[in-house]
Amino acid sequence: MTIPSPSQRGLQAAASPIRRLSPYADAAKARGIYVHHLNIGQPDIETPRSVVEAYRGYDDKVLAYGASEGTAAYRSALAEYYNGLGAAAGGSPIKPSQVMVTVGGSEALSFAIAATCDPGDEVLVAEPFYPNYKGFSHILGVETRAVTTHAAEGFDLPAERLRAAIGPRTRAVCLSTPGNPTGAVLSAERLAEIGQVCVEKGVFFLCDEVYRDFVYEAGVRYAPSVLAVPGLDAHVIMIDSVSKRYSACGARVGCLVTRNAELYATMLKFAQTRLSPPVVDQLAGLAALQTPEKELRSAIDDYRRRRDALVAGLNRIPGVSARTPAGAFYLIVQLPVDDAEKFAIFLLRDFDLDGETVMLAPADGFYATPGLGKQQVRAAYVLQVPKLERSVAILEAGLKAYAARATGTAAYA
Ligand SMILES: Cc1ncc(COP(=O)(O)O)c(C=O)c1O
Repeated sequence: MTIPSPSQRGLQAAASPIRRLSPYADAAKARGIYVHHLNIGQPDIETPRSVVEAYRGYDDKVLAYGASEGTAAYRSALAEYYNGLGAAAGGSPIKPSQVMVTVGGSEALSFAIAATCDPGDEVLVAEPFYPNYKGFSHILGVETRAVTTHAAEGFDLPAERLRAAIGPRTRAVCLSTPGNPTGAVLSAERLAEIGQVCVEKGVFFLCDEVYRDFVYEAGVRYAPSVLAVPGLDAHVIMIDSVSKRYSACGARVGCLVTRNAELYATMLKFAQTRLSPPVVDQLAGLAALQTPEKELRSAIDDYRRRRDALVAGLNRIPGVSARTPAGAFYLIVQLPVDDAEKFAIFLLRDFDLDGETVMLAPADGFYATPGLGKQQVRAAYVLQVPKLERSVAILEAGLKAYAARATGTAAYA
């Protein structure tokens, strides 16, 4: 009997840097250790009641397939939402026929990459970047090319640097703003400059705005949207999700928006292949749009306090540095260690402070350039302030213990 092996594509896929240390966390929990999860962007804010009620209230006799592009009611409501955010400034108001509902922002990303790139083509990202851009590209046989951004520059992406990185095989630029893992927010001017480079170079612009609400500058409610930038209709696909905004990651509802009818028709064929996005979850997504503004704002105020507490705490630890991010709920942390992955494993496998430890995401998996991010981790401030403060204390003690162990033995090779 010959057992065939999985595809080379599958064997060569990289494990998620956010989840790949989970077995160590599970083992720590099995030993009775409490693990503070700073590794994953799973918010602890309560999901709006209207969303939970939408699931509870469903009682149709048959849970049937829905339309591949999403329900008419939800797409209309989404179009109205984007127009309410000023999308019309981009040239024309968004129509429901330009909105497609997807299984999370994740499926929107994979449709967008598949509709713009062929196998062997390249998608250009700004590193450090959301690792699933590479994951989805890899599944599709698309290469990921990266332009590097730097902490010292606030992870800004000058349009000229992007232009220089676009190669002959580049078909799309894919960016998140506010950024995961950097927290950097692209200004409306930057978005317009980047869009202009895409137009000049004849490449698509996949703009991932799932953290749009998470901006912390006083008086600013949303990060600028690419939909409001004029002149980009043919080039842009905007990616969105209910996951973060409504603290409803399990709802698995997202969407994409494009004014390019040919791209939309192309992605609709992919959508038809998977039949339909989840029907009840779309009712939840629709209900989520009714969430009172006060509730959303109070969550953002909470995140601002968390961000400030975590950044202040981290920068008090000798050798540790973290810049204050303008948006999202992540930050890149520079650590005084030889190898952030070894240290993250040490924290889970070999260390605890009075029965507690911290799980971090090694940052090298957020870079495409080998060697970058080796002394960095990504931390998500999705826990309440006392837990974040406790996490900082654990991290500080962990760093001391790691330094003592690392000089004494080579056990963490
Ligand atoms: C930048 C970014 N884009 C897209 C997603 C996908 O989210 P979902 O599939 O839950 O909508 C995430 C999730 O963490 C993300 O961080």
